[in-house]
Amino acid sequence: MSSDLNVESTNAEELTLLPEAESAVSWGDSAPKGGKAVLGRILKDGAKVPLFLGQTLVNSLRDMGYNSTTSALCEHVDNAIQWGATEIRVYFHESGRQDDRKISALVYDNARGMAPNVLKVATAFGGSLVFENRGGIGRYGMGMKAAALSMSPAFEVYSWQEPRSYYSMILDVDEIGNSRSNLIELPDPTLNENLPSEIVGILTRPMTFPKNPSESQTLLAKDADELAQRLGRSGTIVYMPECDRLTYRKASTLVDHATKEMGRIYRRWISKDDGSAARKD
Ligand SMILES: Nc1ncnc2c1ncn2[C@@H]1O[C@H](COP(=O)(O)OP(=O)(O)OP(=O)(O)O)[C@@H](O)[C@H]1O
Ligand SMILES: [Mg+2]
Repeated sequence: MSSDLNVESTNAEELTLLPEAESAVSWGDSAPKGGKAVLGRILKDGAKVPLFLGQTLVNSLRDMGYNSTTSALCEHVDNAIQWGATEIRVYFHESGRQDDRKISALVYDNARGMAPNVLKVATAFGGSLVFENRGGIGRYGMGMKAAALSMSPAFEVYSWQEPRSYYSMILDVDEIGNSRSNLIELPDPTLNENLPSEIVGILTRPMTFPKNPSESQTLLAKDADELAQRLGRSGTIVYMPECDRLTYRKASTLVDHATKEMGRIYRRWISKDDGSAARKD
């Protein structure tokens, strides 16, 4: 929209909107409500315009960048490798009936974890501890967020650097869309003594695929207590509940594709056996 055509300028502070400018806004029904409020304030009152309009941009970012669910998940695996994981597990958890199937995805690693303030920065777009450092894998401060949101409308990160102290952050696109603030701030991470039951369930119960779980699946732990020990001193879990954008509809196909592709992409790490290797489960 050209501001010259639609806005009558009295002085720099005071802008009066001409009717045609207001009628030029034709957002869709499902457009974020908070974003509409922010735009309204900008058009009507000449409110300050932030460089990033968070309510809409976060939605747009959902559509960018990944060829497949596997390549999105590789962002989390890359992070895990970069931060020293020797064990990485990727889960697809299928629930509900066939016509209302829900798939949640989870990536666990035993790397160094994140301190609360690091986790907070890591949740922000552009937030990185290795920005523009070409020595490692990450450098844009986007991977974790963009990849998780490309699969599900909300994601949760749990990270710990001592046993049973799980710091968590949640990024929820709908919640952000409803915020009426020009500047969306992230809250401080929450400290949890336990992981949520759905995550404990995913990590302690056999998956329905591959078949014959007793032969082909090695559980991380058999119950919540053993899990707390097994999760040890440090690590990170990225949880993407109720994914609405996946390359395949069935968990079994997602597993097949991820196993094949990740086996190829990470063959160097998988074949290393010196403690710096990421193991594929
Ligand atoms: N599994 C992990 N273990 C420890 N720290 C992590 C993990 N995942 C992310 N981080 C931290 O979060 C930051 C942001 O991660 P993110 O993937 O969004 O960006 P990046 O890796 O820095 O760059 P890129 O966009 O190229 O992936 C990282 O720089 C790192 O500090
Ligand atoms: Mg990354």
